Amino acid sequence: MSFAGRHVVLGVSGGIACYKSCTLARRLTEDGAAVDVVLTASAAEFVRPVTFEALTGRPVFTSLWERDRALVHIGLAKDPDLVIVAPATANLLARAAMGLADDLLTALLLARAGPVLAAPAMNDAMYAHPATRANLKTLAGRGWHFVGPEVGPLAEGPSDRPGRMSEPDAIFAAAARLVLQRVPWLGKTVVVTAGPTREHLDPVRVVTNPSTGRMGFALAEAAYARGADVVLVAGPSELPLPLGVTVHRVETTAEMQRATQALVKRADVLVMAAAPADYRPAESAATKRPRSDGALTVALEATPDILGSLAPRKGCVTVGFALETGGDGVAKARKKLQDKALDFVILNDALEPGAGFEVTTNRVTIIGKAGAPIELPLLAKRDVADKILDAVEQALT
Ligand code: CTP
Repeated sequence: MSFAGRHVVLGVSGGIACYKSCTLARRLTEDGAAVDVVLTASAAEFVRPVTFEALTGRPVFTSLWERDRALVHIGLAKDPDLVIVAPATANLLARAAMGLADDLLTALLLARAGPVLAAPAMNDAMYAHPATRANLKTLAGRGWHFVGPEVGPLAEGPSDRPGRMSEPDAIFAAAARLVLQRVPWLGKTVVVTAGPTREHLDPVRVVTNPSTGRMGFALAEAAYARGADVVLVAGPSELPLPLGVTVHRVETTAEMQRATQALVKRADVLVMAAAPADYRPAESAATKRPRSDGALTVALEATPDILGSLAPRKGCVTVGFALETGGDGVAKARKKLQDKALDFVILNDALEPGAGFEVTTNRVTIIGKAGAPIELPLLAKRDVADKILDAVEQALT
């Protein structure tokens, strides 16, 4: 849980996008944050405080003038790790840019010295208006962070210009990055490969494996949250793409090899979490082979070894995976560490329940060039990702 032990203030101003702030409040709470919601008077017209109280399990703040809550705006400004304003309406942005403090939310924003993340939401013409542009520039100049708005349907109908508030998941990812970012990752480029690859026998049949991409996607998400610039080379996967990450889609091992070779030149960290198909049909038919032709014998050839084909990677911390199926896994993994010039190899066993392919958990052993292997318990893949990045972080200078 990335927000465990963190305190977040969620300021909600009055726009129809308020309904999405309920999901955001819940998401932050489920992830361990203590969430104090501050509603403007207009926001409370859209969503009643009791909704947020139920979602966060904490009292909701709506006024500077509540009994026994003198100076509440000062505490709410000073204490939290992050203040999020979602939705941030044109009116709220204008009042904040002017430094007004005529209600609880603007008063706490004026008293706030720490990070603020705003998710603007308004009519597209209001967002494009020079007054709003100037207000956004002013606030950005004061260090405010922004997520969105997006192009998409507005309450008043379809639009091809920005105005729609970002989805709660996108706001959550941006918030996590602000709260969790760590100095060694800032300005660093992390390249992650993920998922299976697919080799065609004919246009409708493929050689592949059951990898879902979950481990690699979790690593990309975790590296983004730490503040890195992340490029994900993703084989075919049904999973939602991690937010904030640049994605290169590939299908075959050769395509993954080309993309990785090009990207590794500017990588500070390379994490090879993909399970590329190791074999491909020696010949691929251009049209579908009819089943009525009967039995088929296929000659398979080895695909390129991507890691093995990369030029020496001086200054790039390289992490490979070793997927084994029982036996002396640690010795095999150590051999891969050496043969593939890795800094770390992550050993997992495809036959162990809860580990490897097609599950949301993994049990891995992190093996570095020096020191004893770190044997981790069975964990959610997102938590495994953080443990791996903790090890990489020590190697980053
Ligand atoms: N890998 C790669 N190119 C391939 C296959 C795998 O670069 N064609 C990478 C994987 O992303 C992983 C590491 O190599 O980080 C080890 O993968 P694994 O499947 O465990 O080993 P292989 O190299 O395929 O060797 P073997 O099949 O002999 O175990």
